[in-house]
Amino acid sequence: VNYGVPTKQKAIVDKLLNGLRRLEYRGYDSAGIAIDNGPSLDELSPIVLKETGKIDMLADFITNKENLNSDLFFENHCGIGHTRWATHGPPAPRNSHPHTSDANNEFLVVHNGIITNHQALREMLERKGFVFESETDTEVIPKLTKYLYEKFHNRVTFRQLVMEVVRQLQGAFALIFKSSHYPGELVAAKRGSPLLLGIVEEPGKNAPHAVLTSEGFKTSKEGPIGDEAPRDNGGKRQKTLKNHVEYYFASDASAMVEHTKRVLHLEDDDVAHLHNGGYGIYRMERSKPTSGTSSPVHYEPTVQSAEVERTVETLQMEVEQIMKGSFKHFMQKEIHEQPESMVQTMRGRMVTCDEGKTAERVFLGGMVNFVSTIRRSRRIILCGCGTSYNSAIAVRQLMEELTELPVTLELASDVLDRQCPFFRDDTCVFISQSGETADTLKAMQYAKERGALCVGIVNTVGSAISRSTDCGVHINAGAEIGVASTKAYTCQIVAMVLLALALSEDSISRATRRKEIMQSLLGLPEAVRTALKLDAQMLALAEALKDEQSLLLFGRGYNYATALEGALKVKEVALLHSEGILAGEMKHGPLALVDETMPLVVVATRDGSYAKQESVVQQLRARGGRLILIATEGDDQIAEVAGKDATIIWVPEVEDCLQAVVNIVPLQLLSYHLTVLRGHNVDQPRNLAKSVTVE
Ligand code: G6P
Repeated sequence: VNYGVPTKQKAIVDKLLNGLRRLEYRGYDSAGIAIDNGPSLDELSPIVLKETGKIDMLADFITNKENLNSDLFFENHCGIGHTRWATHGPPAPRNSHPHTSDANNEFLVVHNGIITNHQALREMLERKGFVFESETDTEVIPKLTKYLYEKFHNRVTFRQLVMEVVRQLQGAFALIFKSSHYPGELVAAKRGSPLLLGIVEEPGKNAPHAVLTSEGFKTSKEGPIGDEAPRDNGGKRQKTLKNHVEYYFASDASAMVEHTKRVLHLEDDDVAHLHNGGYGIYRMERSKPTSGTSSPVHYEPTVQSAEVERTVETLQMEVEQIMKGSFKHFMQKEIHEQPESMVQTMRGRMVTCDEGKTAERVFLGGMVNFVSTIRRSRRIILCGCGTSYNSAIAVRQLMEELTELPVTLELASDVLDRQCPFFRDDTCVFISQSGETADTLKAMQYAKERGALCVGIVNTVGSAISRSTDCGVHINAGAEIGVASTKAYTCQIVAMVLLALALSEDSISRATRRKEIMQSLLGLPEAVRTALKLDAQMLALAEALKDEQSLLLFGRGYNYATALEGALKVKEVALLHSEGILAGEMKHGPLALVDETMPLVVVATRDGSYAKQESVVQQLRARGGRLILIATEGDDQIAEVAGKDATIIWVPEVEDCLQAVVNIVPLQLLSYHLTVLRGHNVDQPRNLAKSVTVE
């Protein structure tokens, strides 16, 4: 949204497209934008441009579109855009957002989330004569908006109208509304899905309430925006504002960080209204949603709301973090920046002496007031999805050892499916890179309702999980853009090892063990740097494996997680079937798959599982398996057991509980090279999204 400076239509389109490119990692099936358009400023009407595929396809489509007026400029303009990851209806222009109320685009909506009562609303609207174009859940929203607008006979502000619409919606959403009836205004609403407002420049101290009068900006102490401020009709009158302000709504800070670092996070049930150069945020009273099958009885606005203040925060993110630099892909960049990322995870948290060479103790600022409560809890539950769940598997054993508490693992979706018994004296640790994963967020809310202490292990500062947990540790890995998580995984493990150390600080019997782990943590970035030198070997291995149909990975103990996470990487980006197997289970089924053609990765580094893994290698070799071993540098014994035909990936040795951090690195590199060689999209794998903000 731009107020008060003449901007060419082309520049507006470019800003929207660039913002969408920054968000493309969250959805890349199709995209669309809506902007004001017309032959002249006196004849404006919104135009909607949509295309299947990547943002670049949409950009090409727009470039070839002749009816954009290249001479048109706006002093005030509100444009919206969306990049889609299909949930209801296949990727196609008709299913892309913005969705519209009618052929004249009276009301336009972009939506992130799922409307669960869309079917009932759709049937009601169809009965009223609305004709739907798409199979999406979203399309009911602009149509419902138009329906209510007509019912209210134009006697509502845009904000009131949106609140009436939102009142009827069930599910999760971040929504932005644009309308030809309210030119120069945008209204956004949120429940369950993330939404940020970025501010480029404020027109004065009281900017949150600014309204326009004939003299320019005044503060809203004279009246809330949207209610009493003068309203343009039909966009025919362009006003000259004294100040230039830009606002950006987005579901992720990366879409706006190149324009502003001043952002505020909207809370659930907030409605934000941009109008005449100012913004206002209003909190909706949660009324019971209507069934969606009946139309409202009273055609007067009913939703109660109060204006609220939300703190404007300063983003720590740098633009470079969301750029690829000299790397070809984000995944490649993120794999290679792991040593620096884990230094960031440990920064200020490892108290050292001897010029940083000796570790003394761990200090976690966000946990100090909670350590004793956690020590008294009945058990620790580690909970997450995907890679974040795998990081929980990697630290479970150490967490049990150091805290002497039972540590259980839960996949977030399963917590909800099973309605797991959680209690007041449980500590639930929620692990999430994005901090927005709907399943994890819901599981956290579920745990909170049952009185459990909720701890967050989160990368994204300001995300829903980091804001609503009782305490936690930010992993500080920096923005992760590649859909397949790499540096977040290793940094999550490091952060949880720090947590386990902090929880066991008073244990005298474990003092030596703790010291050894802390000392090994200091050397971990260097060990990962050494493992990254395996890049050329992993490229050669990827060449050898690129035409395979399947890959099995065996690990146990600390490295069961390595097998699972390695398999997940190969599966999700290289689109090659792969399975991570707990090696102890090998003889209970997976062995049947082993023959002389099947490539088998065995994690056999020197730790408590070494002897057992040696025997696994022997058994697999006896069946003629094509062995690929991850082994500790200099371990001639395992090389002999594996035989001369085996491929051995030598990795540096670190403390057993940290070895998984080093061991995953060659598998990340292997999956990266396999993906490139197999010709697949590295950063945006088929059908996957980075932050799954829908259940
Ligand atoms: C998606 C991503 C995965 C990620 C998982 C959990 O499935 O594609 O890479 O591991 O979500 O995400 P979170 O942000 O909660 O760690």
